[in-house]
Amino acid sequence: MSNRLDQQRKGSFITVEGTEGVGKTTNIAWIRQCLNTYGIEPLMSREPGGTNLAEEIRVLLLEPREEPMAELTELLLIFAARAQHLARKIVPALNAGQWVLCDRFTDATYAYQGGGRLLDKTTINNLENLVQADLRPDLVLILDIEPELGLQRARQRGEPDRFEQETLEFFRRVRAAYQERASQDPTRYLVIDAGQSLDQVQRQIQSGIEAFMSRRLAV
Ligand code: TMP
Repeated sequence: MSNRLDQQRKGSFITVEGTEGVGKTTNIAWIRQCLNTYGIEPLMSREPGGTNLAEEIRVLLLEPREEPMAELTELLLIFAARAQHLARKIVPALNAGQWVLCDRFTDATYAYQGGGRLLDKTTINNLENLVQADLRPDLVLILDIEPELGLQRARQRGEPDRFEQETLEFFRRVRAAYQERASQDPTRYLVIDAGQSLDQVQRQIQSGIEAFMSRRLAV
C-alpha cells in the first residue's frame, strides 16, 4: 500500500489541536458544519487512533499503569499509531479527493512530547519525515486556553488518563509549544481564543474556515 499523496486529486487535511478541556469535541462538530455549508462532508478521525489497530495503541498510551512508560516508548508508539492511521485511512481518503478532519495530529507530538516532555525536536522531525514523507495538514486550528481552566474542565470528566495526570507546568509548556509553532506559520495555523463564549469561538472558527476556503479556491 502506497503512502504517497497524489497531488492532483488531493482533498484537504484539517487538524484541530489544543490542551485538555479546551472544547475540541464541540468545536470539531462546528468545523464540520462549516465545511458542510460548502458541500464538503469530511472524513472524521482522531489521534492517537483512527483505525482499529491505532485505537489499540491509543489505549496503551492513555491508560495509567504501574510501569512508567519511557518517553521514547511513548514517542514511538505515537508514530506507530500514526503510520497505521496514515496508511489505512488518511492517505487513501485524501488520494480519493476526500477531505479529512482530524482531532489532533503531529502538532500534538511537537507540543506534548517536544514541549511537555522536553524531547528533542530534531528527533520528532526525523520521525515525522520518516512516517509522513511530505504530508502536512493544510490547516491547523489551535484552540487556546489557560491550562488551569482547561484542566479543571477535563478533570470533571472522570478518571484522568496518563496525560491528564500531568502537572500544570507540563501543560504550560504544551501550550507554549503550540503557540510557537503557530507563530512560525500564521497562514497554515489559526489560533482561536477558546476562553471566549461559545458563540465568539464559533464565529472566529467560521471566519477562519471562510478565509481558508477562499485561499484554496484562489489556487
Ligand atoms: P484526547 O483524545 O483527549 O485529545 O487525548 C489524547 C491525548 O494524547 C492528549 O492528552 C494528548 C496526547 N497526545 C500526545 O501526547 N501526542 C500526540 O501526538 C497526540 C496525537 C496526542
